[in-house]
Amino acid sequence: SSSIKVALLGFGTVGSAVARVLSARKFSGIELTHIFNRNAERKRTSPAARSVPDSVLWTESIEEILRSDVDIVIELMGGLNPVEGWLRKALTSGKSVVTANKQLIAYRGAKLARIAAQHNVQLVYGAAVAGGVPVIPGMLQGLCGDQITRLSGIVNGTCNFILSRMESGAAYATVLADAQHAGYAEADPSADVDGYDARAKLCILSRIALHAELDPDTVPTQSISTVEAIDFAYAKELSCTIRQVSQAELDGRTVHARVGPMLVPLSSPIAWSHGTQNMVVATGRFGGDTVFSGHGAGGDPTAVAVVSDLLAVAQRCATVQLPVRKRKVTSDFLAPHYLR
Ligand code: NDP
Ligand code: HSE
Repeated sequence: SSSIKVALLGFGTVGSAVARVLSARKFSGIELTHIFNRNAERKRTSPAARSVPDSVLWTESIEEILRSDVDIVIELMGGLNPVEGWLRKALTSGKSVVTANKQLIAYRGAKLARIAAQHNVQLVYGAAVAGGVPVIPGMLQGLCGDQITRLSGIVNGTCNFILSRMESGAAYATVLADAQHAGYAEADPSADVDGYDARAKLCILSRIALHAELDPDTVPTQSISTVEAIDFAYAKELSCTIRQVSQAELDGRTVHARVGPMLVPLSSPIAWSHGTQNMVVATGRFGGDTVFSGHGAGGDPTAVAVVSDLLAVAQRCATVQLPVRKRKVTSDFLAPHYLR
């Protein structure tokens, strides 16, 4: 058929959510043809696989995907190795790549983007920063006319979930376990709490918004694991709370950057972000502050970002039509007239 063929690499929290969203939305012209995962049979028979069409080929062979006529590869496994090598091969064999892998894009994104350009295919990674919040598309499209000088905010949902729960008295270890159980945390959660996830995201944003290539290993990064209940009591006395904040600011030829727990005034919108909410404030020379906010972690919100990237790539490859139906307008709101 003339459909755009799609392979999913990784059927975990985000991969299975992507399959669910694709099955629910039924976009015409897009066909999920392959799912790759180790122990593929275990995944195929899991409850999460219920939304996957019978026609999908489950495989443990990456070669099978690379040799196939798949047009777009969606990578949702994580980590640098072996993923980097596999995605290089996908790009060089003419397949576009959609990924949510922030470590890969922070460390190897510039190189992979060059390979994609050389082979006339696309590499997109909107889900790699702030999960379901369209910060990357917003920077690349809506704000690229401005000169962004500063980025600041919350880009790790797990840390925000932990700190905003600790603010209400919960214990660090309990909330971290909850975040892992809910699928917010990285496979190794020290990437979240020790700040490596946030600094990778800060480096990606610096590349696309500040046009500054930073080595993630050089960004001063402090863990939130040393924050204790008593710290919230002291913070409150100062009319503050504590959040993991990531900041990057252009200063001539250098960039001031840091990631770590920070006192945040209770009057700041950053202090109002709870749970997995992420918030990024981009400061532009001409447009001033623009705020992006929403769910920064979790299968479904992240799947939305991945599927949106997929649609963007597919629309550039071929005519993929989004279904639009005529609807009647009604003023019969269920709620009374106050803002909720
Ligand atoms: P999971 O660990 O839930 O899923 C990863 C999947 O990939 C698992 O099914 C795993 O198999 C499989 N896998 C990993 N390595 C290999 C390998 N070498 N060969 C074959 N299969 C492999 O992770 P998530 O879904 O949470 O995250 C996926 C990606 O999305 C990561 O890059 C993450 O950083 C990113 N991300 C995650 C978000 C979230 O909220 N969870 C939000 C935004 C981005 P197995 O089950 O056997 O381990
Ligand atoms: N572990 C990450 C977080 C997932 O908690 O923000 C989203 O990138």
